[in-house]
Formats: sequence, C-alpha cells, structure tokens
Amino acid sequence: MILDIINKKRLGKELTYQELDKIFNGYLNGDVYDYQMSSLLMAICINGMTDEEIFALTKIFIDSGDTLDFSDIPGIKVDKHSTGGIGDKTTLVIAPIVASCGIPVIKMSGRGLGYTGGTIDKLESIPGYRIDLSDEEILKQVHDINLVVTGQTAYLVPMDKAIYALRDVTATVSSIPLIASSIMSKKIAGGADKILIDIKVGNGALLQTKEEAKKLSELMIKIGEVYHREVRTIISDMNVPLGKSIGNSLEVLEAMDVLQGKEKDNNFVDLCYDLASDMISMGLNISKDEAREMALQKIKDGSAYQKFLDMVSYQKGKIEKIKVSDKTHAIKAPTSGVLKKIHALELGKISLALGAGKENMDDKIDYTVGIQLHKLVGDAIKKGDVLATLYVNKKLPEVPIDKIFTIE
Ligand code: URA
Repeated sequence: MILDIINKKRLGKELTYQELDKIFNGYLNGDVYDYQMSSLLMAICINGMTDEEIFALTKIFIDSGDTLDFSDIPGIKVDKHSTGGIGDKTTLVIAPIVASCGIPVIKMSGRGLGYTGGTIDKLESIPGYRIDLSDEEILKQVHDINLVVTGQTAYLVPMDKAIYALRDVTATVSSIPLIASSIMSKKIAGGADKILIDIKVGNGALLQTKEEAKKLSELMIKIGEVYHREVRTIISDMNVPLGKSIGNSLEVLEAMDVLQGKEKDNNFVDLCYDLASDMISMGLNISKDEAREMALQKIKDGSAYQKFLDMVSYQKGKIEKIKVSDKTHAIKAPTSGVLKKIHALELGKISLALGAGKENMDDKIDYTVGIQLHKLVGDAIKKGDVLATLYVNKKLPEVPIDKIFTIE
C-alpha cells in the first residue's frame, strides 16, 4: 500500500528498492497522486535517506528513460553540472574552452529554477539558436566541432522532470538525497565518462552551509563509484553573484567577453578557469596545473572563442542579432566607502521581477532585460557612482539598494 510506504518514511525507516520503485514509478504512471508524492518528498526532506536508498532512487531515476551511449566518439567525455546560482553562465565559457582542447563536450543543459537562470534560457536569447537537436544531429556536430550545448531530451530521466516540478512547488528542493539522485541520474544517463559538479553555497543557492555542500559532494562521489564514473566536485560561493551581469542576453555577452580575454580577475573568470582546468585534467588525464595552462592558451590564441562561434552557427543562432533592452535605469551609490558585499539573492529577485526568469510556469522570459554591475566587491565607491544598470522593459521593480550593496 502506498500509504504504508509514506508512513514508513515518516517514521524515519529505510525503504526497500521495491517500495521506492512502486511509489516513484506509480507517480510517473499516474497511479500515485501529487499529494501522496508531496507527502513522501517532505518525509524524505525531513528524515533523509540512507546511502542504499539513494543508490536505489538514482537507479530508478536512470531506468525511467533512455540512457545515451557516446562510446563511439573517441576521447573521454567529461560533463559538468552546477547546482544553480545567480549570474552563473560558466557553461557558456568552459564548454568551448574544453572542446578547443580536443575533448568532446556534449552538454545537455536545463532551464532556470526559482531565482537562478538556466543555460538553455541564456542560449535561447541568441535568435534562432536550436536547443532541440536530435541524437543524429548531436553526433554529427560533436564529430565536426567537438561541442554541443543543447536541451535535455524528453526521454532522458523523465522521472526527474516530474519530481522536480513537484519539488519546486512543495519546498522540497533543498533535500540533499533528492539533489544527489536528480543530478547524478541525469549525468549518468547522459553518457558522461567523468563528471564535474559545481556545488554552490550561499544565499543565492539551494544549499546554505559548507557542511551541507560537503555532504552532497561525498554522496555524489559515492554514487559515481557505484557506476564506475570519476566524480570531482568544486564547492563555490553563491553569496555574491557571478561576474558582472544577470539576465539572459547580458550573460551571453559577458561570456563572449571572457572568451575573448576581455575580462580578467573577477569571481566569474576565476571559477571558469577552475572548472575548465578540472574538466581538461579529467579529459586528458593531466595535472590541473597543466590543464590550466592549456585553458589560458585557448583563450589567448582565440580558439575557445572561435569554438563558441562555431557552436552557435552550427545550432543556427544569429549572434549578431542578440539584443538587450534600450530602456535603462541607473542605480547610484547612496554613500562613499568600499563595496563589501553584493547580495546574490536580492539581485536574483530583481532579475526575476524584471522578467529575466519565470515566476509562474507559463510566464514568458524577456531575454533583453537584466542587471549589469559596474562595481564589484572590494571596489572603492564615491557617493553617486553608478553601481549597476538595470535593463528594463516592463515596470521598474522596487530596488532596495541598502539590502543589495553593503558599502562601508
Ligand atoms: N539541479 C538539478 O538538476 N537537480 C536538483 O535537484 C538541484 C539542482
């Protein structure tokens, strides 16, 4: 009985593979109702899961759809996933860098969640860019240029799609066992040989503490061992937004600047090099230091940027047509001092209110709006300096400057 399974988890007991299979597959088939699954998810959130339960759940997720096999493509396929953050456009930079080092990159990315943006939404801000490539198109493109960034097909872990949508509206997103099985099932079903996970911690992330991030990291590495996949993790800060822009077109433009070597020395550029070095090190079995040198070289000689342009044109994007709104609003410093903090979550909320993300399932994203930061943490500020520009289309949202920027 479904009720017995929910009750067992409510009491903090371990569920068997068969019990998990019955309720999760029952949900996918329509035999288990939203309210029953919500109740189980909340019991999991509160009572956690044992490693055995998490391995079972990951398998049930993987088995719910297709598994992709890219073993015909020569080379080690390395995939990367981020748990999501504000201004996180790292895939747009690191995928071309890694591909330009001769490592095949097949990246199936997702859409935004809550306040965090998704890579696929960002790429869709490039007019014409296709995110619905068929398996044959993916194979041809990887063969030709080593790089594909597309959307997840409907057949890849359909269980995750269904459960994620429910978690999103039942306050059960931040459960470590559920995050681990959601991410790892997609990476394993997606055919990666090696996996790099960027675990974000801070007010703009799903996880709020380093301890939680470490737990998630250990769990993902253990799941990787079960499937004989090398998993590396990086725990990165998400109290401050990444880089200078938030919003779809703006983030693509910033990623292009980084790929052209125009941006240096900020938290976004640093994280890109860190992640790219790990991916290259895993893909070529070389040290992270050697990999970093290669990454720097690929930016310097223009080959990473060219790879990005090749990918966009293969996927029918017209990069020259990308647009940002011509209506802007300047946010000025109310006082002088040093910029000590920029609050990621508060900027995420503004970006959503501007229309850069979805508040409701059927909202349409406005790709042209967003926030451009002109000052970063550590900068000296004079009263009246422009801290940020908002790119606006609809009504200007309320901007709590003191909550966003701490100047001391
Ligand atoms: N990203 C995912 O794909 N799944 C989660 O559960 C959390 C972040």
